[in-house]
Amino acid sequence: MTDIKELLLSRIRDVADYPEPGVMFKDITPLLADPAAFTALTDALAEIATETGATKVVGLEARGFILGAPVAVRAGLGFIPVRKAGKLPGATLRQAYDLEYGSAEIEIHAEDLTSADRVLIVDDVLATGGTAEAAIHLIQRAGAEVSGLAVLMELGFLAGRARLAPALGEAPLEALLQV
Ligand code: PRP
Repeated sequence: MTDIKELLLSRIRDVADYPEPGVMFKDITPLLADPAAFTALTDALAEIATETGATKVVGLEARGFILGAPVAVRAGLGFIPVRKAGKLPGATLRQAYDLEYGSAEIEIHAEDLTSADRVLIVDDVLATGGTAEAAIHLIQRAGAEVSGLAVLMELGFLAGRARLAPALGEAPLEALLQV
């Protein structure tokens, strides 16, 4: 494993039985609190933004905001939030997606993207891929292209990568860590 991967992994805390019994929660707050690790993560994700030719960075609420905003600044790009429904004041596009129990909706400001944009989506974790899939659809419905999806961690056993393949097409899915 490379030094940066070891550094990032060492700053992620496993919390057993959170938020419910049987779940091992990946807590990134120790990583955020370590400036060397947070800077290394930001730099690695910003490199992906540049390599994929992104013109904008989209972060997914809430931890995708914490990671995506500094990535956008570092890459010299604008940041656009994809929020849980009901939080954005302007005209929005809304996309529903399934959860384990029930469903949820996310939104984006329709005017934030144009057909000239190539968007890097940033989030902390790829699990089932439901959130990212809905975000890809939102970006495409706004007329923009997805340049890639970049996450800190991919939970491989949940098969999100396979689920996202049709929506991503040629756009890369970059996961810094496989857990
Ligand atoms: C988590 C995580 C991703 C998503 C991954 O967010 O930050 O956005 O779930 O899961 P999926 O691949 O199965 O869709 P959560 O909805 O818990 O929101 P939060 O960041 O506000 O806690």
